[in-house]
Amino acid sequence: MSARGIVWTAVIALAMMLGGVSVASAQGGDDPGQVAAGQAVYEMSCAGCHGADGTGVEGRGRPLIGIAAQGDRATHIESIANGKGFMPAFGDQLDSGEVEAVASFVRLTFVAEEAAAEELAETGAETSVLALVGLTMVAAGGLLVRASRRD
Ligand code: HEC
Repeated sequence: MSARGIVWTAVIALAMMLGGVSVASAQGGDDPGQVAAGQAVYEMSCAGCHGADGTGVEGRGRPLIGIAAQGDRATHIESIANGKGFMPAFGDQLDSGEVEAVASFVRLTFVAEEAAAEELAETGAETSVLALVGLTMVAAGGLLVRASRRD
């Protein structure tokens, strides 16, 4: 393989690695596999205040649309289990698996459409910035190798 080929292979591998890392961290522990179980819990225990579609119920519960962007999973699990403000604690009525599942359901399902598009754009931009940084580093390395071979 030519030196150029090696450099490009390294750049592509690096960009793929960094891209993978940013996608994994964007999910933050919410598990799509828990969504169906979480929806059943939500309809029983939560929809009365937050609305079946997460848009909230006047005087009872706030909208949960875009909730994943407003706090981390651990904070939301804590609020669901122990209550927050006028929201009652569910730690006694739901087991920890149900709390985990309903947290995944609200955080993965109630996503504002613009927010989803924005997040995608941000993740994409982040990945290309990282790829550019990697490219610059590898190119600089290539120049160094070449310079050292010249003398
Ligand atoms: C009696 C009405 C009521 C019920 C039932 C209810 N909530 Fe809430 N919920 C609220 C209110 C009011 C808030 C706003 C609390 C605050 O910020 O002071 C809230 C806030 C939240 C938040 C944001 C918490 C945070 O940390 O900012 C989440 C997530 C949430 N609810 C999920 C749920 C889930 C899941 C259920 C069902 C297990 C549920 N809620 C049931 C009234 C309710």
